[in-house]
Amino acid sequence: MLLLIRNGRVIDPAQGIEDRLDVLIEDGRIARLGQTLSAPGAQMLDASGLIVAPGLVDLHVHLREPGFEGKETVTTGCAAAARGGVTTLVAMPNTKPSTDCPDIVRLVRKKAVPTGINVLPAGAVTVGQKGEQLTDFAALKSAGVPALTDDGLPIQNLALLRQAMLEAKRLGLPLMDHCEDKDMVQNFAVNEGAVSRQLDLPGRPAIAEELQIMRDVMLAEETGTHVHICHISTAKGVDIVRQAKARGVRVTCETCPQYFTLTQEEVLRQGAMARVNPPLRTQADVEGIRAGLADGAIDAIVTDHAPHTTEEKSRPLPDAPSGMVGLETSLALALTGLYHTGLLPLSRVIALMSSSPASLLGLDRGTLAVGRDADLVLFDPDEAWVIDKNRFASKGRNTPFHGRAVQGRVKYTISRGTIIYQEG
Ligand code: DOR
Ligand code: ZN
Repeated sequence: MLLLIRNGRVIDPAQGIEDRLDVLIEDGRIARLGQTLSAPGAQMLDASGLIVAPGLVDLHVHLREPGFEGKETVTTGCAAAARGGVTTLVAMPNTKPSTDCPDIVRLVRKKAVPTGINVLPAGAVTVGQKGEQLTDFAALKSAGVPALTDDGLPIQNLALLRQAMLEAKRLGLPLMDHCEDKDMVQNFAVNEGAVSRQLDLPGRPAIAEELQIMRDVMLAEETGTHVHICHISTAKGVDIVRQAKARGVRVTCETCPQYFTLTQEEVLRQGAMARVNPPLRTQADVEGIRAGLADGAIDAIVTDHAPHTTEEKSRPLPDAPSGMVGLETSLALALTGLYHTGLLPLSRVIALMSSSPASLLGLDRGTLAVGRDADLVLFDPDEAWVIDKNRFASKGRNTPFHGRAVQGRVKYTISRGTIIYQEG
């Protein structure tokens, strides 16, 4: 099986390539990059006007299966990934049952096989994500988890968290942490500040996130464990990570398009549709996130794709679940908000969404190096379009970006040499 992608502009940050090149794929792997390649008998794909980049790697996705199939399934979530140019994703463990044992890891992986998406379930840190007893990290590692996290229900007990870090380090697994102090945020719906006051609701303060980031950094420094901070949302949080990195702490972090695009005021316009944990913050925070993306304090752009049903999201703000879908809009929002505004070069946006997240988990992905699995996204970086939630492959329609004009459109997604998504 030969596939020849011709005339595209290849951007592969891991190899420092940015050039008009052809890409030859043979038996699911990258066989050659070069100018005007020929391959008799190959299927041809004309990529004129398109960027040819590594398939996107999304470290933070809620696929909901098993247990919450009304919100999403592995199949629908992976179809959404393909539409978004994502070929590898890390699935969060807050399912029912949670991904706290090898059987569930294997179940999710098996369901993902026919989709063509490389799904890596993260292992839960504690049994049932109850924050009481550590799971069997070694068994989870053998089943293929790339990292451990209790995202959705993060550990609050510091003795247990420290023990988890020491055990994770022993096994060479990173620990991914959703940072928010539970007592401070409870089940509150919005950021604490002008908007929570206007709505007369209790808020989730920025300090609830920042204290836990600081705490995690201190524990990472003491234990030597690689700690990865999930979906960072505040300027000060970014600064804590920046300073920790400068003194050599093994800490990395990710953010999401909502945190560099929207502020808390979105809740006034869209109610529960703009409810997410951590919450949308202030303009100063948005600027802090953008600065962190520009100077390398932030390592990856992820989605925190968190589908919920229309019924759930129609509830009054205090009762609706938190989260928004993101797989089908992340590349366009990143290009629109970071590249088209002149903040980042195109290659940097691609790195933040492919090579950098892959390398921080030690995955053999996120590059077009010869011999690697042929996972690619082909996109028009400039095409203008309007986000329409009714066209999503995801079951989730919960996006605050419905109706938003963006620039940059996925045309083809290729996984292990097979076209798994083609626009139109
Ligand atoms: O907004 C969120 N939704 N944040 C989380 O941490 C969990 C997620 C979910 O599972 O819905
Ligand atoms: Zn989370």
